Amino acid sequence: MTALVIAVDGPAAAGKGTLARRLADALSLPYLDTGLLYRAVGRRLLDGGADPRDAEAATAQARALTPADLARNDLRGPAADMAASAVAAIPAVRAALLDWQRDFGRQHGAVLDGRDIGTVVFPDAPVKLFVSASPEERARRRWLELRGRGVAAELAQVEAEMRARDAQDSGRSVAPLKPAADATLIDTTSLDADAAFETALALVRARI
Ligand code: C5P
Repeated sequence: MTALVIAVDGPAAAGKGTLARRLADALSLPYLDTGLLYRAVGRRLLDGGADPRDAEAATAQARALTPADLARNDLRGPAADMAASAVAAIPAVRAALLDWQRDFGRQHGAVLDGRDIGTVVFPDAPVKLFVSASPEERARRRWLELRGRGVAAELAQVEAEMRARDAQDSGRSVAPLKPAADATLIDTTSLDADAAFETALALVRARI
C-alpha cells in the first residue's frame, strides 16, 4: 500500500499549521511544517550577514541544512518571515529542499503543510486541502500571536508585511502559492480551529 500523504497549502496565518498538526495526530501520521525549511535557510543567511536574495549563498545554505536547524527557536518573527519568502523564490533552493520533503512523506505517509505541497512536492497526494481566510482576519490572528509571545507590533504593519509576503509568494515564477486544481478549499475566516479541523477531517475520511 502506498503511504498516505495529505497536502495542506495556503497563505500565512490561515490556520493551516494548526489544522495539519491536528490531522496528523488524529490519523497517527508524521507531520512536517515545510515553512520551517525555508525559515531555517533564511536564518542561516541572516546569521552569516548574507542577503537572503543571494541565490548562490542561499543554495549553499539549503544544501547544508540539518535537522537541528529546524529546532531553532528564532524561526518565527518578521525578519525570518521575509527572509524565508526571499529564499523560497530561488529555484535552486526549492530544488535542494524537494527530496527532503518527498523522503519525509514517502516513508510512512505524512501530513505536510506549505505553499506547493499539492502542486509540486506531492502532486499525486490523494487528499489536498487549500486553507485560506481573508487578509484582514489573517493579519489579526498573526498580530494576536505576536502579542501572545510578547512582541509589540502595530496591526496595520503586520497586515502590510503579510500582504507583501503573500504577493511575493503568489507572484514568484517557481512553485507560486496557488491551490492545486484538485484541492478542496477551506475558508477559515469565520471558522474557529475546532470547526476547521472537523471540516477537514470529514473531507479526509471521505477520501481514504
Ligand atoms: O508557512 P510559513 O509562513 O512558515 O512559510 C514561510 C515562507 O516559506 C513562506 O512565506 C513561503 O515563501 C515559503 N514556503 C514555500 N513553500 C512551502 C512552505 C513555505 O515557499 N512549501
